[in-house]
Amino acid sequence: MLMASKELVAAARAGKYAVGAFNAVNMESAQAIFSAAEESRSPFIIQITQTTLKYTEPEELFALIRARGERADVPFAIHLDHGRSFEVCMRFLRLGVTSLMIDGSLQEDGKTPRSYEENVDVTRRVREAAHAMGVTVEAEIGRLGQISGEEEVGDQLTVPDEAARFVADTDVDMLAIGIGTTHGLYKGTPHIAHERLKEVAAAVAIPLVMHGGTGVPDEDVRRAISLGIAKVNIDTQIRVAFYDTIMDQVHGIEKEFAEVDASGGVRKYDIRKILTPTREAMSAAIVNRMEVFGSAGKA
Ligand code: G3H
Ligand code: ZN
Repeated sequence: MLMASKELVAAARAGKYAVGAFNAVNMESAQAIFSAAEESRSPFIIQITQTTLKYTEPEELFALIRARGERADVPFAIHLDHGRSFEVCMRFLRLGVTSLMIDGSLQEDGKTPRSYEENVDVTRRVREAAHAMGVTVEAEIGRLGQISGEEEVGDQLTVPDEAARFVADTDVDMLAIGIGTTHGLYKGTPHIAHERLKEVAAAVAIPLVMHGGTGVPDEDVRRAISLGIAKVNIDTQIRVAFYDTIMDQVHGIEKEFAEVDASGGVRKYDIRKILTPTREAMSAAIVNRMEVFGSAGKA
């Protein structure tokens, strides 16, 4: 049930829930995303972020996602996350993604801001190609960044008028906005700019996307969804589940090995014994997010 994410996200917006977009980096994380969605009966987006190109060829990861997707019985989209250039977006279009993000807020280095005009230019070129192929386009205006204390860091938050102008100038399908979330873990409790979100949602008709979903308190997530967020991105939370479980497993196996060594036996190296519970832990973390997003039971 592979489809464009536009339909999934539109249904979510209408139904006042959000579709989770979960990052896959290897076979185990991809399998965990599919199994969590099937267990929860939840629509979802599985995404590959551009920086994963440094780790694996996207063709290989995409092929296994496609193969797993053939037996999925819940609707899903395959999405490029944070595509930073026209060329990378075209590479993923050729692969067959049904959805992509052109992140024109930053230059290709992922650090230096692009000007409004530069963002519009690259976003528009990607949108023309993607729409010609029926592929959904997400873009970004404003930047991710933490809000320090009670003070809003104004220049990082999305400006409602600018967001409205950007959508009119680019004709994209969904928009990632800066409302105080950030990628990775938060220092302390994040302060989400709900008032700003409300203003952006009033200015822009298309569904809005929350990046940096890991660590945002459940009540903030629910409130943001009620105000117009219809896609929530989760990556770090999956990595944390992976890391914590691998560590537990390795420690357990080290004890086993010590006993085997002491009794003069032979160690058995079965990495599947480590990766099976690790995959289950990632899946459980995703199931939990699907419940909070309200997408569970919507497939
Ligand atoms: O694009 C991916 C996300 O925004 C993930 O953010 O790693 O904080 O969950 P996260
Ligand atoms: Zn992101």
